[in-house]
Amino acid sequence: MKRGIDRRLFLSGALLGGGAIAAGGWAWAGQSLTPGHPGLLLRSEAPLPRPYQALLPVPAVLKPTRTDGTTDYYEITQRSASLRILPGLNTPAWTYEGSFPGPTLVSRSGRRTVVRHHNELPHPTVVHLHGGHTPYDSDGYPTALILPTGAHASSSGTPGMADMPGMAQAPRPAAGARTYTYPMDQRAATLWYHDHRMGFTGPNVWRGLAGFHLVHDDEELALSLPSGERDLPLMIADRSFAADGTFRYPALDAAQGTPGVTDPYMDGVLGDVILVNGAPWPVLETQRLRYRLRLLNASNARRYRLALDPQPPGGGGLVQIGGDGGLLERPLAHDELGIAPAERFDVVVDFSRYRPGTRVRLVNRLGSGRTAEVMRFDVSSSARPPADDSAVPARLSTVAALDPTHAVATRTFLFQRSSGGTGWTINGQPYRPGHSLATPRLGTTEVWRFVTDFHHPVHLHLNHFQVMARNNSSPGPYDAGWKDTVDLRPAESLEIVTRFTDYPGRFMLHCHNLEHEDMAMMADFVTE
Ligand code: C2O
Ligand code: CU
Repeated sequence: MKRGIDRRLFLSGALLGGGAIAAGGWAWAGQSLTPGHPGLLLRSEAPLPRPYQALLPVPAVLKPTRTDGTTDYYEITQRSASLRILPGLNTPAWTYEGSFPGPTLVSRSGRRTVVRHHNELPHPTVVHLHGGHTPYDSDGYPTALILPTGAHASSSGTPGMADMPGMAQAPRPAAGARTYTYPMDQRAATLWYHDHRMGFTGPNVWRGLAGFHLVHDDEELALSLPSGERDLPLMIADRSFAADGTFRYPALDAAQGTPGVTDPYMDGVLGDVILVNGAPWPVLETQRLRYRLRLLNASNARRYRLALDPQPPGGGGLVQIGGDGGLLERPLAHDELGIAPAERFDVVVDFSRYRPGTRVRLVNRLGSGRTAEVMRFDVSSSARPPADDSAVPARLSTVAALDPTHAVATRTFLFQRSSGGTGWTINGQPYRPGHSLATPRLGTTEVWRFVTDFHHPVHLHLNHFQVMARNNSSPGPYDAGWKDTVDLRPAESLEIVTRFTDYPGRFMLHCHNLEHEDMAMMADFVTE
């Protein structure tokens, strides 16, 4: 009985994403098909290049179309483009401005950033600035569609949206373009923007809709961290390719009528090609100097454990200076970094610790064969390193600990597969737009507990949080600082503390395994 209800509610929600709904089977396959991994490997049919042939691309920084005393204005066109990812093959992609990753936006904390997105793709899209402290109407609510240019809001498959409970104030679909306003009243941090269309985030990001958005502030700029060409955003994402070079993805319905993937991939889709900034297993030639690497896992489902191979003498080569929500209080040296989908780790690597000419691979200790390789740094063979004017100070910033004893509420969220086999749920419920699981008051602190049955990278919109405890014990090695996404493994429980601030409205709590997210592991919470 319950199964029928869940399914109907979910599909009625899915309808808001536009297009006709076909009945597709989502019977749960029973177990994880790639043991230890959050998903199933989808093999490429195209011949794959050997690692370390391509040079690392760095996405271009987008220039504002205009600026005034308070605001920088940008225009982005979402359009199809043909990319050269594998040698000799073209890959049709959905892009921001023709590239994957999209162009990097760079904001200054406290200066408003206004981005107008035009949709020239064949399907509706939604843009979310991940890690942005953003008012509700610009946050990329999953049904706040940008319809393709030429489509009309009134005739585009959003029947009855205003009738849904709680949806009266929902942003309406916009025809052709939508303007997102980001106050940028937040710390320096590595943010990213990506598609967030309800039911279709997985295929849309897989096709290329993701880019970086960096925020700087005075505190960070005063630190003399490596900058300019030695401040590199690195978007790590796995993909699979068909024989003709097109992206392979096991969508139930390529025409974007029915959300979700075929049964065997319900745990998540794992690609067999590791891209960094859109290139397979690339190489970067480095000087024997410090580099700031802003690592982002933009994969749909794949988790990585990154390490330098060889390690520099003495180890601790990955010096973490920041996380999702900006600088840590103090640098934290790691031999390995666990990174789940959507997490960011801001690290400094000092290549002067290596002998001239060393080839340093960034490897993935959770991978095997080619998926154990990520990229390579070829350290300059010149014997005398140039003078390094950068530094990693012992004290980076102040991260005031939130006090959980001030929490006005403690809430528990269970991230589980649906008992009825219809997908994934939070507290037993598949996602329903307009139905909120929590109503926190602005200005108050709450403790949220996440409990899992499987690998779930849990993400909270609006406010960053601090991890208090993992399995009733201290936080893990990768939980430091302000976070917006946390990696939960099967049967874990994690407690976070956060303060809800500034913006009333309807925001999202969801799993960032994009197949789980599309198959309903998402919930609204409403701040007031
Ligand atoms: Cu990166 Cu709600 O998403
Ligand atoms: Cu999940």
